Amino acid sequence: MTDGAGISFTLNGQAVRLQVESERWLLDVLRNDLDLKGSHFGCGSGECGACFVLIDDHAVPACNTPMWSVAGKHVVTSEGLGTPACPHPLQTAFIAEQAAQCGYCTSGMLIAGAALLKRCPQPSDADIRAGMERNLCRCGTHVRVMRAIHRAQASS
Ligand code: FES
Repeated sequence: MTDGAGISFTLNGQAVRLQVESERWLLDVLRNDLDLKGSHFGCGSGECGACFVLIDDHAVPACNTPMWSVAGKHVVTSEGLGTPACPHPLQTAFIAEQAAQCGYCTSGMLIAGAALLKRCPQPSDADIRAGMERNLCRCGTHVRVMRAIHRAQASS
């Protein structure tokens, strides 16, 4: 159902108001209406982390987040984490550590890592394992991801 006034929220630092059906999933709207392709569809049920976005600084699966629930919230996708000229420390660290293989999970990894560093600026290995537990990588990059998060914490 479409709310007549639209759904207003902040997306990557910009105020937006969208006329979309309130029950649509955020991931669908990001990818298909807004052409923000960084968040990927993996499992579609909140189990893999490929679609994670930040909502009010928490890593949340966009694949099962209905649009009505983002009203008034601050949503950040991987496109909003940094820019080529001013990348997020995690983006720089992921490149330095070559912490991606196929890259399908990387956007969600960056989002989960950013949420982790926000709530725990100096995470231990155990903190990183716990913080990244919901992000699956079939290529086995987890050790490099852990190094990248440590590198980012040292540089931020
Ligand atoms: Fe959303 Fe897997 S696609 S968690």
